Amino acid sequence: MSTTKKRQEEFQALATDATTYDDKALAGQHERGKLTARERIDLLMDPGSFNELDAFVRHRASGFGTENQRPPGDAVVTGWGSINDRTVFVYAEDFTRFGGSVGEATAQKICKVYDLAMASGAPIIGLKDSGGARIQEGVLSLDGYGQIFERNVRASGVIPQISIIMGPCAGGAVYSPALTDFVYQVEETSHLFITGPDVIKAVTGEDVSMEDLGGSVTHSRLSGVTHFVAADEAGALAEVRFLLSFLPDNNMGTPPRFAYSGELPGESLDKLIPDSANQPYDMTLALRAIVDAGEFYEVHRNFASNIVVGFGRIDGRSVGLVGNQPANSAGTLDIDAAEKGARFVRFCDAFNIPLVTFVDVPGFLPGVEQEHRGIIRHGAKLLFAYAEATVPKITVITRKAYGGAYVVMNSRGVRADLVFAWPTAEIAVIGATGAVNIIHRRSIAEAADPDAERKRLTDDYVERFSNPYVAAEHGLVDEVIMPSDTRDRLIRGLAMLESKRETLPAKKHSNLPL
Ligand code: HXC
Repeated sequence: MSTTKKRQEEFQALATDATTYDDKALAGQHERGKLTARERIDLLMDPGSFNELDAFVRHRASGFGTENQRPPGDAVVTGWGSINDRTVFVYAEDFTRFGGSVGEATAQKICKVYDLAMASGAPIIGLKDSGGARIQEGVLSLDGYGQIFERNVRASGVIPQISIIMGPCAGGAVYSPALTDFVYQVEETSHLFITGPDVIKAVTGEDVSMEDLGGSVTHSRLSGVTHFVAADEAGALAEVRFLLSFLPDNNMGTPPRFAYSGELPGESLDKLIPDSANQPYDMTLALRAIVDAGEFYEVHRNFASNIVVGFGRIDGRSVGLVGNQPANSAGTLDIDAAEKGARFVRFCDAFNIPLVTFVDVPGFLPGVEQEHRGIIRHGAKLLFAYAEATVPKITVITRKAYGGAYVVMNSRGVRADLVFAWPTAEIAVIGATGAVNIIHRRSIAEAADPDAERKRLTDDYVERFSNPYVAAEHGLVDEVIMPSDTRDRLIRGLAMLESKRETLPAKKHSNLPL
């Protein structure tokens, strides 16, 4: 055999070894109800588009017998490919190698794809399935994480970063997904936590389950760490492909525009608002009625459901939709809602996605618990995010817009570009009952029939202030529109604002109230 042929065959054997699983590893992963890193990449990327990097990288650690186990590629598969013909980068932790744990070489591989993603301005997706810092590699493993975190932060606001949790993600390792823009979790098989059940038991004596500690229900409903939950791995990967269709490649680009020639919604929105101002309705119906094909991709669906956020397209243009949700806690803003809204607004602003905000908010949630937990500090985040955003910002006031919450929800004062109001809009400092009790306290007390007087004054207040016309008189509402005209107005507004360019004063960075 010629030397050339021999060396080519040797290479092919090495490459096969590096990119295939032995039967035991494959079975082990499947028995855990999980796919392998390579199977996941195949499902994520356009067929045949994946280009692998560093398949021959091996760790250089010694001790604990690691020198006898140096698989090519170490414990992560990295590279780039395409999703719907757009370049994306990926790293997939390989649980079949050292439990996907991150050692020095693993971290170097991840950092390399991050650097390439940044250089080429393309999104990066991390498929997480790892025992965390590789115990045998000690501080080098921790330093590797430090380098990954630093890249997460550097890339923030430059390229979209998405994490899919598909297995364990423990200890400080959770901070990499937490630093990225969107976190997906696969139901049942994924767990994120800072300290595991064993440590908690040792420290506090408390018995907790992995599921309760860091399962998909915990993080999508309670902690808000997780934005999306998918029933299985294939579902999560398909959803990420869909999410990317709303996003630009990077902060200098614009989201892809799709041609849309579907029908405009009919009169359904004219019937959405109930006759009684205290009766709830579902704001997602309004959002679905104004987006192309009724397709609204809700983010953080199970968390802080008194506010609704997500992506949609209006006449083919990607928009970030934010809406108060009267169907939950009357749509009041509380700490979680403010944080959820603020993070979404800031994502859209960073990535040139116009914001469309639907307002029906009676105010901030009152109470000692909220004050003690810092509603002032946290509520300020949403206000800050809207005021700072320079993307096109359009507001539609459907019903209540009261007090500070009116101001926060992209009002004219915080530089909304366009403000529309439906005829049912009520824009005032506070609701009629509260207002009358405060400003007419004395005259009500002195009246021969206080209840009748209160009712008369309340009716008068409602007549005078619970409408959109005072705000429209002052130019704080640009146009009062029929609900069924909303989509049309949004299409025109977004087209007009397409060329909007606004810059903030030069500064190192702002000081968002954290
Ligand atoms: C080295 C690890 C490992 C780790 C797992 N393995 N975690 N090897 N370092 N951190 C190895 C196991 O030894 C085993 O090897 C293989 O991966 C599969 O692990 P199993 O335990 O058999 O799998 P499973 O039962 O599914 O349990 C998965 C697990 C568990 C929940 C992740 O392995 C576990 O608790 N690991 C330790 C987690 C941990 O405490 N990590 C450190 C967190 S601190 P063999 O050869 O037997 O197949 C941290 C700090 C980051 O990450 C700091 C960043 C700043």
